[in-house]
Amino acid sequence: MRRPLRRDFVWGVSTSSYQIEGAAQVDGRGPSIWDGFCREPGRIANGDTGDQACDHYHRYREDIALMQSIGVNAYRFSTAWPRVLPKGRGAANEAGLAFYDRLVDGLLEAHIEPWVCLYHWDLPQALQDLGGWTNRDSAEWFADYARLIAGRLGDRVKRFATFNEPSVFTIFGYSAGGQPPGTKELESFYATIHHVNLAHGAAVDALRGVAGASIGVIHNMQPARPAHPTPADGKAAAILDDIWNRAFPDPQIIGDYPASLRAGIDLHRREGDMERICRPIDWLGVNHYSPIYAKAEGASPLGFAWAEVPADAPRSPIGWQVDPEAFRDTLLDAHDRYGLPIYVTENGAGAAEKLDAAGGVNDVERIDYLSRYIEAMREAAEKGADVRGYFVWSLLDNFEWGAGYTNRFGLVFVDYATQKRVPKASARWYAATIKAHAAQATS
Ligand code: FCB
Repeated sequence: MRRPLRRDFVWGVSTSSYQIEGAAQVDGRGPSIWDGFCREPGRIANGDTGDQACDHYHRYREDIALMQSIGVNAYRFSTAWPRVLPKGRGAANEAGLAFYDRLVDGLLEAHIEPWVCLYHWDLPQALQDLGGWTNRDSAEWFADYARLIAGRLGDRVKRFATFNEPSVFTIFGYSAGGQPPGTKELESFYATIHHVNLAHGAAVDALRGVAGASIGVIHNMQPARPAHPTPADGKAAAILDDIWNRAFPDPQIIGDYPASLRAGIDLHRREGDMERICRPIDWLGVNHYSPIYAKAEGASPLGFAWAEVPADAPRSPIGWQVDPEAFRDTLLDAHDRYGLPIYVTENGAGAAEKLDAAGGVNDVERIDYLSRYIEAMREAAEKGADVRGYFVWSLLDNFEWGAGYTNRFGLVFVDYATQKRVPKASARWYAATIKAHAAQATS
């Protein structure tokens, strides 16, 4: 290894509630918007659902032991809002809260720091029935939920994130389709952007009630590129960049919306809102996989259309572009623009995998991807980006949203029929990477 990262660099793995917990109808969990969406014909590959997923709800001890064997010092997971508040607000579900108690206690016993994200897309269905994020009251619903989690876990958990990838669930949920609720009305799209931002600010205030809390937010950030080097495609890419990369972190951290969004947002903005949104936070979580592309599309309400990755670009087994330099540049840009300590809260590679004849998975392409991206992160750190940690997506193969169980991102293979976990070659490789860093940091 070259020049070391910070001595206290955080090496972790990430997951999310709906993607791994299963136990969808167990111990009083209420329905989330994903439970219903998965049941709509044609939405999810093979009609898959998160009903069972990795059954992490019952197997979390085994999963903590897997993390221990990899040697991570942090675990980022999300709490399921409908598990702790089955109707989204009102009466809390003690059994749901007790699950997160057990998980947190198990992690601490294993010397793994819990990093809790409050929202990884599983909104309670009861709140969707009231309009979900299009309802301005959603900011207060979310703040109450944040207070509940802070009050219950805050004696042991200090790392909190408000949202995971707000631009992804608002774009695909309210504009492009593919995620619940699957509507495509421009006005509700702008409303959700603004209300999610208000919810973020309100939750930051709620989480400040935890002594010693270190609060952040997790954004997907990747270069938005024009499909062709034409002025029209350049303009389309700039619009996509504003919506994908800036619509949330700019108001949350800098206190203003990108110019191209202001007219749409103004319909929903009230006096004092920007101060409510822009609350001081302690770190920025960056999720990154690969660049995205846009082309001009006059008929599209937002002025752009998604475009394909260039045909000659190197790709991962599931077709996502592999471009570590884009990752390095993203980290440098995020550092320059937002000036906060950065934790890479997701990075990883998907594949359609099976156990081989020897009963293992020799995932050389994932190892190649991860090592090149970690190297790119190291370069960004050398050039001045304040990168303090890195979490692989994901610990386990899991429910990959619209792709169902076909795309596997885990360091650990999951046989969904038996729930048997089998660490892949990448799990051993990651363990060695963490060990090498620890050796260097103490030498
Ligand atoms: C991210 C999501 C995460 C996972 C990865 C592959 O956008 O946050 O849940 O699906 O992509």
